[in-house]
Order: sequence, then C-alpha cells, then structure tokens
Amino acid sequence: MKKLSKLMMLFAIVFASLSIMSCEGPEGPEGPAGPNGATGANGKDGANGKDGSLYCTTCHNNTTMNAAKNQFATTPHGTFDPAVDGYAGGRNTCARCHSHQGFVETTFTGNDTTFNAIPKPMHMQCETCHDMHTSLDSSEGTDYAMRYKGVTEWTITNRVTKTDLPGSSNTCAYCHQPRPRPGLPIIPASSPTTLDSLSITSAHWGPHYSSQAAIQNGLFGYEIAGTLPYENSKHSDKDCSFCHMVKSPKDATKGGHTFVVDRGTCDDCHGTAVNLATLETEYHALLTELEHLLITNAKGRVLLDADLHPTVGKRSNLEAGAIFNFLMCEYEGSAGVHNTKYVKALLKNSIDALKAAGY
Ligand code: HEC
Ligand code: HEC
Ligand code: HEC
Ligand code: HEC
Ligand code: HEC
Ligand code: HEC
Repeated sequence: MKKLSKLMMLFAIVFASLSIMSCEGPEGPEGPAGPNGATGANGKDGANGKDGSLYCTTCHNNTTMNAAKNQFATTPHGTFDPAVDGYAGGRNTCARCHSHQGFVETTFTGNDTTFNAIPKPMHMQCETCHDMHTSLDSSEGTDYAMRYKGVTEWTITNRVTKTDLPGSSNTCAYCHQPRPRPGLPIIPASSPTTLDSLSITSAHWGPHYSSQAAIQNGLFGYEIAGTLPYENSKHSDKDCSFCHMVKSPKDATKGGHTFVVDRGTCDDCHGTAVNLATLETEYHALLTELEHLLITNAKGRVLLDADLHPTVGKRSNLEAGAIFNFLMCEYEGSAGVHNTKYVKALLKNSIDALKAAGY
C-alpha cells in the first residue's frame, strides 16, 4: 500500500512538472501594423457603355430627317397633283389612298370610305406614313414608327383575304392594291367561253391603276390553266423598300424617300446572271401581244378602246379574265420585275387560251 501511494505520488510530481513546463502566460498586445506594400499595376479599363440616346439619334438627327424631307419633296407622293390628289383626295370613296386626311381617318376608323368629302385634301406628309413607335426596344427589330400597324386587307375581296406582308409593305399595300370597280370581284370561274355571261358596264371596269402589291404577292390574277405554272419569283418575299428605298444608293437622286428604284444596286447581285433588260423585253412582247389580241382578233371582238380601257358590252369569262389580266399587268408598272414568273404566266396563258378559242 505504501509502495502504491509512493508510486502515485511520483506520477503526480511528474505530471505536475510536465504541466508547469507546457504552461504559457497570457498573449501580449498586438504589435503596430507594418508599412503598406507597393501599389499594384492598374487593371485594364472596361469598354464604355452605350450612350442611351445614341440609338435614337441614328434616325433622329437633322441630317437624316432633312435628307428624307428633301427627297420626299420631289416625289409624286410629296407633291400636289390637282388632277389626281385634288379630285380623288377629296372624294370619300377615293380619299383613303389619295389624301393625307383620308389615310389618317380610315386607318383610324377601319372603314374604306371617309364619313364626309374632304374640302381641302392634302397630299401625303411625313405623318401620313409615320406616327408613333410601337416599342423602343431595339432588340425587337427596327421600328420605323409606321402609322398603319395592321395587316394588308385586300379590298378586292371585300377584305376577306388578309396577308401580313414583310417589313413596312403593309403601309404601301394599304394604297398600292387593286380596288374593286364595277363587276368585281365577280368573274365566275365556270363555263369560261360562254359569250355574254358577264356585263362590262363601264370603261373603269377592272382593277385600279395600283395593282403592284397584289402582283408582287402573286394574288388576284384570273388564273387560266395553261403551259406556265402560277409561281412567285425570288423577290416576292421582300418588302417594297428593298427595291424602292435602298439606303445607300449608287445614284444620289434615287433610293430612300425618293421611292425610285436604283438599278445600280441590283447589279451587286445580278450582274449578268439574271439579265433584267432581257426580262423586260420578253415581258413587253407578251403584254403587247395580249393587247393586240384584245383589240384586233379573228372574232372581230373589240375588247379594249384606244386608251386601253375596257369597252362596254357583254363578255365571256375568258374575255373578261384576259382583259382583267392585261390591266393588272399594264398597271403594275415594273415591266414584270414585281413578280416575273407570275405576270408571265398570266399573260402567256391568257394569250394561249384566246388563240385556242379562235381569237
Ligand atoms: C429606325 C429609325 C428610328 C429610331 C432608331 C428611333 N426613331 Fe423615333 N421615329 C422615327 C420616325 C421615322 C418617326 C416619325 C417621324 C417623326 O415624327 O419624326 C419617329 C417618331 C418618334 C416620336 C414621335 C414624334 C412625333 O412628333 O410624333 C418619338 C417621341 C420618337 N420617335 C422617339 C424616339 C426615341 C426616344 C428613340 C430612341 C429610344 C427613337 N425614337 C428611335 C424613327 C426612329
Ligand atoms: C386602294 C387605294 C386607292 C383607291 C381607293 C383609289 N385609288 Fe386611285 N390610285 C391609287 C394609287 C396607289 C395610284 C397610283 C398608281 C401608280 O402610280 O402606279 C392611283 C392612281 C390614280 C389615278 C392616276 C392614274 C394615272 O394614270 O396617273 C387616278 C386618276 C385615280 N387614281 C383616281 C381615283 C379615283 C377617282 C378614285 C375613287 C373613285 C380612286 N382613285 C380610288 C390608289 C387608290
Ligand atoms: C409613303 C410612306 C412614307 C412617307 C410619306 C415618309 N416615310 Fe419615312 N419611311 C417610310 C418607310 C417605309 C421607312 C422604312 C424604310 C426601310 O424599311 O428601310 C421609312 C424610314 C424613315 C426614317 C428612318 C431612317 C431611314 O431613312 O431609313 C426616317 C428618319 C424617316 N422615314 C423620316 C421621314 C420623314 C422626315 C418624312 C417626310 C419628309 C417621311 N419619312 C415620309 C415611309 C415613309
Ligand atoms: C396613302 C396611300 C399611299 C401609300 C401609303 C403609299 N403610296 Fe405610293 N402612291 C400613292 C399614290 C396615290 C400615287 C400616285 C401619285 C400621287 O397622286 O400621289 C403613288 C405613287 C407612287 C410611286 C410613283 C409612281 C409613279 O407613277 O411615278 C411609287 C414608286 C410609289 N408610290 C411607291 C410606294 C411605296 C414603296 C410605298 C410604301 C413605302 C408607298 N408608295 C406608299 C399612294 C400611296
Ligand atoms: C424586286 C424589286 C421591287 C420590289 C420588291 C418592288 N418593286 Fe415596285 N418597281 C420595281 C421596278 C424595277 C419598277 C420600275 C420602275 C423603275 O425601274 O424605276 C417598279 C415600279 C413601281 C411603281 C411605279 C409604277 C408606275 O406606274 O410607274 C410603283 C407604284 C411600285 N413599283 C410600287 C411597289 C410596291 C407598293 C411594292 C411593294 C408591294 C413594290 N413596288 C415592290 C421594283 C420593285
Ligand atoms: C441580295 C441580292 C439581290 C439583289 C440586291 C437583287 N436581286 Fe434580284 N434576284 C436575286 C436572286 C438570287 C434571284 C433568283 C435568281 C434565279 O431565280 O435564278 C433574283 C431574281 C430576280 C428576278 C426574277 C427573275 C425571274 O425570272 O424570276 C427579278 C425580276 C429581279 N431579281 C430583279 C431585281 C431588281 C430590279 C433588283 C434591284 C432593285 C434586284 N433584283 C436586286 C438576288 C438579288
């Protein structure tokens, strides 16, 4: 027992001396901070952010606005023609397309006619086509602040047919479409060669002078079956401004708000691959051939007068259809460029059908 307590005592002494050896005093206060290190090299400047108004000033600057004004002042749109704008601009059935007020009123009401005649019609202004932006979010595409924001409703089918045309074409097609005149759109599709199935009662029968948008989209021709199919040419998917408002014309008197086609820019792609002059020659040959057939033919039926307006009288569907096709092509005014394949088919198949029927 004594041995054991002596041993424990020894352990206690060893343990105590060990703990004394490992014991430390409380931590002293923190010493003063050392001197700062040398400043590192500056980092690279980040790219400057865009000035918020720069996007707006791509269009809203004097140079662009004045250029548009100067160009526009020279155009048939931007000048007053008493014979056309003065007369048609004030009539309530014509004003929709022939005066500033008529366009503004009908795009607002959705009617084809204005409520009243317009005593002092104005020719088109900047504010005819332009009004307010829909959105100023440039990521949604370019917004040219067009007044008319709807789709094209074709008046020749009493607006039953509707097409959403590309870009700003719905604005142009609001006016540049064939409007129905007496007897339209009623060329019956049946018994095409029965004479006297349709009455033409006015020299104004047929489409109006403004068939461009319909032709460009391959619509509303009287499609007589024949050797050529009714197809659309390459640019029918483009908007009117692709050809009529090029932004960097080679000839400064064309493009932009002159609405004049700059042929020089076509050659960037065309060169000699699609020869435009050849296309025009072919087109004029077909148009002239149909014109002659409608005036002088083996049946002695005089279907067009000296001004190339329809003569009044009873007509077969084939006759009325061929007259209609002739006028659609005569009035589109681009020698078929608006839709080469479609106009060629209308003209060629009309000529062939008339000849086959003994004209
Ligand atoms: C792609 C060209 C374009 C761009 C970009 C553009 N605008 Fe316009 N803006 C027009 C046109 C064209 C008009 C109609 C003509 C006019 O009234 O000046 C118009 C009209 C306006 C109008 C109505 C003016 C009036 O008198 O009725 C306002 C407001 C306007 N823009 C503000 C802006 C702002 C703000 C921006 C930038 C966030 C902008 N626009 C960017 C082309 C543009
Ligand atoms: C759907 C729109 C529209 C309506 C409605 C309309 N016109 Fe036109 N009219 C036009 C367009 C567009 C032109 C120009 C066509 C061109 O230059 O190729 C035009 C051209 C004319 C011309 C000039 C023809 C020439 O050879 O220079 C006369 C005249 C005319 N229209 C009279 C009228 C009369 C009268 C009415 C009403 C009874 C009327 N228009 C209704 C769109 C329309
Ligand atoms: C016949 C309709 C029409 C009239 C009238 C018109 N514009 Fe335009 N304007 C357009 C169309 C369509 C565009 C878009 C062109 C495109 O798609 O490239 C446009 C584009 C613009 C732009 C954008 C920049 C550019 O040049 O592409 C400005 C600015 C402009 N118009 C100002 C005017 C001014 C100012 C007037 C009056 C002097 C005017 N517009 C009259 C149809 C019109
Ligand atoms: C408000 C109806 C209207 C709108 C919108 C309109 N036009 Fe016209 N355009 C006419 C009329 C009517 C004429 C015949 C001249 C006149 O009386 O102003 C014409 C004439 C033209 C001519 C000249 C034809 C010639 O005989 O020299 C061209 C080209 C033309 N328009 C293209 C366009 C394009 C492209 C657009 C769209 C950017 C457009 N127009 C929008 C009504 C319109
Ligand atoms: C592929 C190119 C192209 C496209 C797209 C195009 N045009 Fe034309 N347009 C022409 C050419 C070419 C002419 C002939 C005039 C010229 O060469 O100066 C013309 C002529 C016209 C004329 C004048 C007719 C006349 O009686 O003097 C009008 C109006 C017209 N186009 C309106 C339009 C409208 C509206 C659109 C859109 C629906 C359109 N064009 C689309 C190329 C085009
Ligand atoms: C971005 C290139 C490009 C530009 C710019 C261009 N074209 Fe074209 N065009 C083409 C292509 C590609 C075809 C299809 C050729 C084919 O069918 O073999 C074509 C086809 C055509 C056709 C139809 C030919 C046919 O027999 O069906 C006509 C007409 C035409 N272009 C006229 C024009 C006019 C007018 C201009 C200038 C206002 C123009 N093009 C600008 C590329 C272009």
